[in-house]
Amino acid sequence: MAETKTRNEIRFILNGADVALTDIAPDATLLDWLRLDRSLRGTKEGCAEGDCGACTVLVGKLSAEGLVYESVNACIRFMGSLDGTHVVTVEHLRGDGEKLHPVQQAVVDFHGSQCGFCTPGFVMSLYALWMKTPNPSDAAIEKALQGNLCRCTGYEAIMRAARAISSYGKAAKDPLAVERNDIAARLEALRDGARVEVGSAKQRLIVPADVDDFAAALEKEPGATIVAGSTDVGLWVTKHMRDISPAIFIGGLDGLRTMSEADGVITIGAGVTYSEAFETLSKRIPALGPLVDRIGGEQVRNMGTIGGNVANGSPIGDTPPPLIALGAQLTLRKGKARRTIPLETFFIAYGKQDRQPGEFVEAVHVPVPAKGTSFAVYKVTKRRDEDITATLGAFHLTLAKDGTVADIRIAYGGMAPTPKRATAVEKALIGKTWSEATVEAAMAEYASDFTPLTDMRATAEYRAMAARNLLLRFYVETTGTKAPFQVSRNEAA
Ligand SMILES: Cc1cc2nc3c(=O)[nH]c(=O)nc-3n(C[C@H](O)[C@H](O)[C@H](O)COP(=O)(O)OP(=O)(O)OC[C@H]3O[C@@H](n4cnc5c(N)ncnc54)[C@H](O)[C@@H]3O)c2cc1C
Ligand code: FES
Ligand code: FES
Repeated sequence: MAETKTRNEIRFILNGADVALTDIAPDATLLDWLRLDRSLRGTKEGCAEGDCGACTVLVGKLSAEGLVYESVNACIRFMGSLDGTHVVTVEHLRGDGEKLHPVQQAVVDFHGSQCGFCTPGFVMSLYALWMKTPNPSDAAIEKALQGNLCRCTGYEAIMRAARAISSYGKAAKDPLAVERNDIAARLEALRDGARVEVGSAKQRLIVPADVDDFAAALEKEPGATIVAGSTDVGLWVTKHMRDISPAIFIGGLDGLRTMSEADGVITIGAGVTYSEAFETLSKRIPALGPLVDRIGGEQVRNMGTIGGNVANGSPIGDTPPPLIALGAQLTLRKGKARRTIPLETFFIAYGKQDRQPGEFVEAVHVPVPAKGTSFAVYKVTKRRDEDITATLGAFHLTLAKDGTVADIRIAYGGMAPTPKRATAVEKALIGKTWSEATVEAAMAEYASDFTPLTDMRATAEYRAMAARNLLLRFYVETTGTKAPFQVSRNEAA
């Protein structure tokens, strides 16, 4: 086998300029680098945790669909993840011209900027939306702006601006349209198939050449921090000052960013982001679409991966409970060896997963619910969008012809130290007629399955009551006139 080449610099394009960095720390964020090293201060720091969107920039990358730009949070995006990409900041929007870009002009004309601090972030999110959807619906605008907060309550003015952008005419000087072919060619030229290694001793980062190279690098350095979308790891650095060196950046590995379906099972590579998974999941397992839409804001969904959500083992991660209820399996890989396990056995205890040193999550395999079964997932949060789960319940029901429960799998987040099945509740339902009386009797079993905690998101009593009521709700939705496969959009506490 040919030896993998190694390069000691990160290469990418910033606005129009080629950048090569040989001296960059594994925990250096794009936001700090833009503002402090490049004096590009249009990109703001608000929360430094991916919540407010003041730091929104675009990152363009070559994919199967060509050159694609996505909004991301520069505050939790590490420099090591940018190799081979095009970073676009708000300063680039005017190109060389005197005139504002239509997105900026619309925000000015419709008074979408009050204090102005959040404005560059809003402009970049709207720019990303306008590039993909020049005439978006209000729902699409709201979705694109879920991750942008304006504390001056300027939302209505911002919405008016967003609706008007396309009436300014397709900007002849839209920089990313003008440069598209040139940038694509330059990004293609950056793909040299090399592994990137920058730094030495305690300050090291690695960008593997491909998945095999990642497997080899991790086997050699089992203590390294794997960084996929960095929507969790970013906060370890900005909020907890944790040392993540040596860090291995896997977000750009095409081999982990594949999705396929065979024999009714969808295989999702560990590097697939929420945004990339959305279309397939919402078509094949409709209840998952609205759930994905409620994970973070658009920028977080453009970066964060389902693999990372599973791997971090958080008790309040949103995807493990529905995946467990669907009977998903997980493939783990160490070097060349792979093993596939039921996802639910991966979560051993709080902070402890069934992952050996040097092993990584390669893919998750999700069975599409069979015809005639019912599946739903309900996320309970204090506010609907961009909020962390208080409790989340997922239900997968198979009824026998005589109306009895042939099988039911129920899994919860936020109720135990790990994502967990409600096995006592399931047992109380299986074999019984699917009726309100059965459901109400089974609700008593929640006490044997879960002892929830009180924290800032909810009290133990609230969690216990909400969890029980979600089962009742699932019963009502599967038996009433309301179609199943729905995630209600009104769960706010
Ligand atoms: C503003 C904001 C809002 C959020 N909202 C939600 C929400 O509503 N619901 C929710 O569930 N989460 C939410 N999150 C958390 C986060 O987005 C998810 O957990 C996300 O899926 C993590 O994926 P990632 O690729 O960013 O992981 P990273 O941050 O890169 O990594 C997370 C962990 O997984 C490990 N890891 C990553 N990939 C692998 C792999 N292939 N093999 C082994 N280990 C791996 C990393 O080492 C790390 O321990 C939010 C985060 C932010 C910043
Ligand atoms: S500074 Fe708030 S999302 Fe980045
Ligand atoms: S204009 Fe957005 S916070 Fe003031």
